[in-house]
Amino acid sequence: MAQIVGGLASSHIPAIGGAIAKGIQQEPYWKPFFDGFPPTHQWLQRVKPDVVVVFYNDHGLNFFLDKMPTFSVGAAASYQNADEGWGIPTLPPFKGCPELSWHLIDHLIEKEFDIVTCQEMLVDHAFTLPLKLFWPQEGACPVMTVPICINTVQFPLPSAKRCFQLGRAVGDAIRSWNSDLKVAVMATGGLSHQLDGTRAGFINKAFDLEFMDSLINNPEWATQFSIHELVEKTGTQGVELLMWLAMRAALGTGSVKEIHRNYHIPISNTATGVMALEVA
Ligand code: DHB
Ligand code: FE
Repeated sequence: MAQIVGGLASSHIPAIGGAIAKGIQQEPYWKPFFDGFPPTHQWLQRVKPDVVVVFYNDHGLNFFLDKMPTFSVGAAASYQNADEGWGIPTLPPFKGCPELSWHLIDHLIEKEFDIVTCQEMLVDHAFTLPLKLFWPQEGACPVMTVPICINTVQFPLPSAKRCFQLGRAVGDAIRSWNSDLKVAVMATGGLSHQLDGTRAGFINKAFDLEFMDSLINNPEWATQFSIHELVEKTGTQGVELLMWLAMRAALGTGSVKEIHRNYHIPISNTATGVMALEVA
């Protein structure tokens, strides 16, 4: 059966793509953020996943407000990046893993998750940039990918409890996949940030740090909060931390070992977090 080697999480600010393109990762503004990644590269060299299942939220590229699935799973052989208007270069297509996609889809439907299946899917900065941060080598991303979108852009949003259940089901599905491949689960988004409105620039360091700790010590901690409480505590876009919760749930009921974390305020309007967790 397939093995889950661990979990990765990262913020996904579009400006990261500009910094990579310009090669300014070591400039003072960017260094504290990019310095968060080399330890994750060493870990990935060791555990060598073949496939990455990526929980992220589309921001209007693949789904717009006219059609907004709560949960959706990619089932394509490859995923194209497209220009979202941020002025950053697009990245080469990402290889899919249709066999794992369809195994996940079968399992999720059987477990009564009414997901949307996408045999064509454009991927935005929230998918491409974290993959580039964890696999920074030139050219196409070397691992196969399965995108899973959780709606965090148009209300009503799925509850933290439901996202945790989705993550659990995805983890169970991966562990029941008849394959020798090694799988990592990734989350992108967060941590606290608000891009618009009267609270634009809102950041909550105390909550972010407690949330990161909870992923190690008490993974269901954040499921106590309603979506409105999460927006209040983390900002309208900070609610993207639901991806981190789904990722942690996919790692299973056993304990996880924290390989690395980084937390830096701010990049753009966002409190940035990075984590690598190994399944113990
Ligand atoms: C920013 C953060 C995001 O999560 C996003 O999707 C777009 C922009 C930002 O802080 O600039
Ligand atoms: Fe975002």
